[in-house]
Amino acid sequence: MDSSTTALLLCSLLWTVCAQAPVVSVEPRSAGVRQGESVSFRCRVVSGSQPVRLEWKRTNNHPLADNVKIGPDGSVLTIANTRNGNQGQYRCVATNSAGRSTMMASLTIKHSPKVRVTPAGPLRVRLGEPVALECHATGRPRPSVTWQRHGTQLVTTKTEDTSTLKVAAVSSEDAGVYVCQAQNTEGVAEVKLEVIVEGGQGAANAPKATVSMAEVTAVEGHMVTMQCQATGSPLPVVSWSKLRAPLPWKHTVEGGVLTLTSVGRQDSGQYICNATNTHGYSQAYTQLEVDSPPYTTSLPDQVRLRPGDTLRLQCLAHGSHPITFRWTRVGRAGMPAGAETSKNGQLLIGQVKLNDSGTYKCVATNHVGFSEALAKVTVKA
Ligand SMILES: *[C@@H]1O[C@H](CO)[C@@H](O)[C@H](O)[C@H]1NC(C)=O
Ligand SMILES: *[C@@H]1O[C@H](CO)[C@@H](O)[C@H](O)[C@H]1NC(C)=O
Repeated sequence: MDSSTTALLLCSLLWTVCAQAPVVSVEPRSAGVRQGESVSFRCRVVSGSQPVRLEWKRTNNHPLADNVKIGPDGSVLTIANTRNGNQGQYRCVATNSAGRSTMMASLTIKHSPKVRVTPAGPLRVRLGEPVALECHATGRPRPSVTWQRHGTQLVTTKTEDTSTLKVAAVSSEDAGVYVCQAQNTEGVAEVKLEVIVEGGQGAANAPKATVSMAEVTAVEGHMVTMQCQATGSPLPVVSWSKLRAPLPWKHTVEGGVLTLTSVGRQDSGQYICNATNTHGYSQAYTQLEVDSPPYTTSLPDQVRLRPGDTLRLQCLAHGSHPITFRWTRVGRAGMPAGAETSKNGQLLIGQVKLNDSGTYKCVATNHVGFSEALAKVTVKA
């Protein structure tokens, strides 16, 4: 026995209560349209004793808007040129002698997302401080909201319409442009936010030049290399110069390495490595000392004297200090009696004798090497 058969049976038993209250259905139960489009809902009496009166109302009991029209028999509700205010629930109310019933229909006005970011950029954050970037999105259907950076989606905390990106302690790598994107079937919207990290950022990116050796000692005629490392972002450009002088003629610079192919004494001095990028520059110094063996001369290198005159010879030497001097007499063992030599290279004989004639030799020595100079002394009566 099905339900209608049961109802009929009950009705014939208890006639008075069997005037049936209406049952209605609504088609569609929900609809979503874009703003400006039209939409209709139809209310249909499924069962119930006739006559049934149909009415459409808004669930919030507001009057129907002026763009809402009801068909002649009250069954069809049409909204032409929909607008945001039409969104909501509508109910079809059916009434007859036995009672009334209602059925709901809901209307959604779709629109593409709109996004708003708080705080607004550009946002300056101090190194190590926390930051929370909130993105609020509206739209229908409800849009999905994401935070992205360099095209990669970031992990965020999400509530209904807000996506929050949290960083507990900002580092310099967190600087850059963040994009909040909201998307639904109606479209995509995005807002960019620039985050500037203050404090450490400058130090991390400014150039820093370091030389591998602060002091270099080389021997004349040899090759010298000086290395300079530079850090910074963008990668600094490294250049070498010499304090108060041009770089030696025989030099090359490659990859921060300065090479002097054959150094001379005049190449001694301070060399400056300069690392430069858009954030500034940094300098580092290498002191070069070029050692050379002594180059020796005797002043004078020839002298004629009479017995009893005073002989004075000065040995001179250029080269790395300290330099020691030693006078000897060529072809003879020992110096004449009464000859005095001094530390600074002087040879003195107060009163020369005939047999003091000859060739005298000065040898100048330093830690690199030695050289000698000769002086010819002639004593004639
Ligand atoms: C290093 O580079 C900076 C920037 O280019 C410049 O101002 C400075 O004078 C340079 N220093 C030397 C020693 O060349
Ligand atoms: C040089 O001559 C002096 C006298 O004029 C003499 O006394 C001395 O012994 C001589 N020295 C040598 C090394 O011959």
